[in-house]
Amino acid sequence: MNPRIGVVTGGGDCPGLNAVIRAAAKAAHRRGWEAIGILGGYEGLLAPQQTKLLAGELLTGLLVRGGTILGTANQGKFSAKVGHGQSRRLPTELLDETKLGCEQLGLIGLVSIGGDGSLSIAQQMFEHGIPVVGVPKTIDNDLAATVMTFGFDSAVACATDALDRLHSTAESHRRVMVLEVMGRYAGWIAIYAGLAGGADVILIPEIPFHYESICKKVAERQQAGKHFTIVVVAEGAKAAGGDYVTSAEQSQQREARLGGIGAKVSAEIQELTGKESRCVVLGHLQRGGSPTNMDRALCTAFGAKAVELIADRKFGQMVTFTGSQIASVPLSEATGELRRVPLGGGFVTAARSMGICLGD
Ligand code: F6P
Repeated sequence: MNPRIGVVTGGGDCPGLNAVIRAAAKAAHRRGWEAIGILGGYEGLLAPQQTKLLAGELLTGLLVRGGTILGTANQGKFSAKVGHGQSRRLPTELLDETKLGCEQLGLIGLVSIGGDGSLSIAQQMFEHGIPVVGVPKTIDNDLAATVMTFGFDSAVACATDALDRLHSTAESHRRVMVLEVMGRYAGWIAIYAGLAGGADVILIPEIPFHYESICKKVAERQQAGKHFTIVVVAEGAKAAGGDYVTSAEQSQQREARLGGIGAKVSAEIQELTGKESRCVVLGHLQRGGSPTNMDRALCTAFGAKAVELIADRKFGQMVTFTGSQIASVPLSEATGELRRVPLGGGFVTAARSMGICLGD
């Protein structure tokens, strides 16, 4: 039997998952290996294992296809985070079962494609003797040890397109338009899209905001003859002294579901300024559809590198983008601590230089 690798996708989906699956499978084939996909996230590794051979026609068209052909899960036995990002350790019996599953499938290595939650599970698996390597995925771009996760660029493109569209309607109606984007604990999507889409106010989780500051910006624009204002708010942004806004009853078994801050900000602005305001929640549109060119290239490089790591038996590593190189770092360095938007960094500084209100 040829050496065989497994590929698994975990956590929330995002554009580019299929492109990584394709790249890993093709790079494996070039080495004379077989590649199988694990279905439905890590649970597909448990008996009776759920897998799919990654070969032939199945790989055609994957580079541009949204979602994941393997399915994914961000809850269940392998959910790594609960509440507001609290980590959870998997029971030893579950790790034993998972290891047995990998052995029964004859895997020489497992490529785990995931965000902070799924990769912290991968780290636990590695510590338990499972030969796993990681690929950093999340539209939130909040994983440490890589300057970019895949999926992020596509989400920014989606949010920027939304801002372009909101501009014309805001101007026509002389309104405030608030766009709520994803970003639980890091405001990368909000700040990139806000700069790319010419927002007047950008609210990110890293900077607690004050309504007076936002309203001052609306008033300033009004005085300057600009009768509309565009606000971008990350779902995890908080008013100073306030808490996260959640959109559903919270389960003890999974991460809190954020959402609703956009509507709150919009209502407050209307109340305090008397100016008509509307809110649009972009939600899962940011996670759907085809990956951008940048993401396609990144995914292809990540998938190929993951296979190289397995060939070199560098298990417990995650592939990373340094800005110029595709390299690798220990999974332990990439998980645990989230990468937030640095307050003294170039993007925040650029926003301030442009006179964009950051709510503080
Ligand atoms: O972590 C990625 C993310 O897109 C967050 O920005 C968002 O809060 C979350 O996933 C939503 O996940 P779901 O609605 O799929 O549970």
